[in-house]
Amino acid sequence: MKLNNIGKIVAGIVIFIVLATFFFWYGTGKSSSLPQPSLDTPAIAQMKEKRCVEDKAFMSINHMKLLHNWRDSAVREGNRNYTAKNGNVYKMSLSGTCLECHSNKEQFCDRCHTYVAAKPACFSCHSIPAEVKK
Ligand code: HEC
Ligand code: HEC
Ligand code: HEC
Repeated sequence: MKLNNIGKIVAGIVIFIVLATFFFWYGTGKSSSLPQPSLDTPAIAQMKEKRCVEDKAFMSINHMKLLHNWRDSAVREGNRNYTAKNGNVYKMSLSGTCLECHSNKEQFCDRCHTYVAAKPACFSCHSIPAEVKK
């Protein structure tokens, strides 16, 4: 192998490593500005296994779809029980179920929504548990 080629390979490897780790080191300086939804609520503190209705990856991306399905199922079909993938059964209720665990709406839901400038117009009708409003 020619020396010239080895130089190119080394350069290639260096570029690869820089690119592959880019998001790691690029993120470190900025991470404090990302939303940090807090799980610090009495209901979650009591849980043995800290688990949402579905797993975290699913919830982060799909909680809006899940909520829309819950509403349609509860309001249109009168079915108010949701069976999760792991077999747990939840009452389909925004205030009664989601905000029962996530009773810190401002430090949880709102932190993310403010970050992405989303304003779900649910709480003009749905109540926020009293402890959150204080
Ligand atoms: C204009 C008022 C209004 C708005 C805005 C609204 N809802 Fe509702 N929602 C209702 C009513 C009324 C019911 C029926 C209550 C019942 O049957 O228990 C309901 C029921 C539901 C239910 C099932 C029952 C329960 O207690 O949660 C879900 C879930 C739900 N809505 C989600 C949402 C979501 C998510 C949003 C925002 C994207 C939203 N709703 C916005 C009025 C509203
Ligand atoms: C039984 C308590 C409980 C209920 C009910 C619950 N959650 Fe969660 N939720 C949690 C816990 C605990 C986590 C953290 C899971 C983890 O870290 O693996 C979580 C995580 C999440 C996340 C991901 C947060 C992140 O940092 O990415 C979202 C979004 C979420 N929940 C929304 C909801 C919504 C919307 C509802 C109602 C449909 C709901 N949760 C109902 C306990 C609950
Ligand atoms: C990990 C971040 C995160 C957390 C925590 C979170 N959300 Fe969201 N939520 C989002 C993102 C991102 C969107 C999508 C915004 C868009 O599409 O513009 C969204 C959208 C929604 C929507 C759909 C908006 C609409 O107008 O239909 C609803 C409803 C919603 N979230 C409810 C909740 C509730 C209730 C909680 C707290 C229990 C919660 N979210 C917690 C990130 C989060």
